[in-house]
Amino acid sequence: MTRTLVGTISDIDRKGSRTFMVNDTQIALFRLSNDDILAVENKCPHKGGALSEGMVCGSKIHCPLHDWRIDLHSGAVQEPDHGCVPTYVVDVDPDSGSIYVTI
Ligand code: FES
Repeated sequence: MTRTLVGTISDIDRKGSRTFMVNDTQIALFRLSNDDILAVENKCPHKGGALSEGMVCGSKIHCPLHDWRIDLHSGAVQEPDHGCVPTYVVDVDPDSGSIYVTI
């Protein structure tokens, strides 16, 4: 596993996102309204929509294509739909605000 510095918390607006590539995988980082930072693969398990372009509601992301709702903590799709998106460990340095993602 690799722990990578991907930016600082001030780089992401509340309820916003940023994306970055690791090898061939695009990762989406989300900043919730409570300042939690969460990371998932930027690919909806339905038809591959870019989750980073969706709407953050609480700790869920609404896919911009067909409105599937995905829990950003677990990666689980909300019923009645089914599926799961990979999630990644994120830690934030409380002093500097630096964000690290472990892939
Ligand atoms: S591609 Fe995300 S809901 Fe269809």
